Order: sequence, then structure tokens, then C-alpha cells
Amino acid sequence: MKKIVLTTLLLGLSFSAFAEQPIGEYKNWRLLSISHRTDKQTLRAILGNDAAIESARAGKLNPWAEGSILAKVKWKESIHKNWVAAIVPGEFEAAEAMVKDSKKYASTGGWGFGKWQDNNLVMFDEAKSKECFACHMAAEQKNDYVFTHSALQ
Ligand code: HEC
Repeated sequence: MKKIVLTTLLLGLSFSAFAEQPIGEYKNWRLLSISHRTDKQTLRAILGNDAAIESARAGKLNPWAEGSILAKVKWKESIHKNWVAAIVPGEFEAAEAMVKDSKKYASTGGWGFGKWQDNNLVMFDEAKSKECFACHMAAEQKNDYVFTHSALQ
């Protein structure tokens, strides 16, 4: 009986892991770079988990190390209230992710695409990921479909 309960529990856990991964800690990750999208009037911070930062520092960028996760945190651009020439983050928009797993996400360049909701990283289904990937193809295969270059070498 105990065995059945444990198996059911483990199965449940492994199934839910497909849809949702409890990785809300991007706020503790290190910075790769920043960007300012003039077409979207947003500021972005691009952060990486340890695997991504180590991969970037080792110049391992095609492919990025398995397990690398890149976070793109977006804010509407705003003007500093005490210094109008300073563009600063305003309203928070979203925190999106790219997760490197060549086997699991083979159909989208080895990257899974997702988004943090509260503190959980929720991965998109294949159809939605393909929409993300379609634009990331502009970053080119030789860059492993990643636009960002580390600004902190
Ligand atoms: C229309 C084009 C476009 C689409 C669609 C798009 N991205 Fe991006 N993405 C970019 C560009 C350009 C950058 C680099 C500049 C920046 O920060 O915006 C980027 C950067 C990123 C980064 C940081 C790593 C990198 O490649 O530089 C992540 C993570 C990311 N996007 C996730 C997503 C997710 C998740 C989706 C789908 C919901 C998505 N993107 C859809 C254009 C796109």
C-alpha cells in the first residue's frame, strides 16, 4: 500500500514538472546584459542562472550549456522624477524565460520558452514556444538563437 501511495505521488510530481517548474529565484540571478527596446518603450534586464552565467563566461555560446536559463525582465520605460534625463524602469511588464534542454525542446532550437507567474516558471506549450522561436531565429543558429551578448566580460 505504501509503495502504491509513493508511486502515485512520484508520478504526480513528475507530471506536474512538465507544466510548471518552481524556479522563481531569477531575482537572485546574475546580470548578463540590459536592453532598451525603442520600438516597445521598455527596459529589459537579461539575467542568467549559474549554468548560464558559467556558460557565457566560458564562451560556450553555441550551444549554451544544458540547464542554462535566461530571464528577460521587462519594465515600461519611465522618467526619474528627480532627473528627467534619466530613463528608469517604470511599471513591471513580465519576466520571460528560455530554458536550454536540447532533447526536450528539440523542435524549438533546444530552448523551451516560458514565463514567470508569481514565483513559478510556467513553460509554454509547443505551439506558443514556436511563436517565440520564430522571432528568435533572427538571432541566428550560430548564436544558438540568443540575441544577448554578455556585457560583463
Ligand atoms: C518579435 C520578436 C520576438 C519575439 C516574438 C520574442 N522575442 Fe525574445 N527577444 C527578442 C529580442 C530582439 C531580444 C533581445 C533584446 C531584448 O532584450 O528585447 C529577445 C530576448 C529574449 C530573451 C533573453 C535572451 C536573448 O535571446 O537575448 C529571452 C529569455 C526571451 N527573449 C524570451 C522570449 C519568450 C519567452 C518569447 C515568447 C513569449 C519571446 N522571447 C518572443 C525578440 C523576440
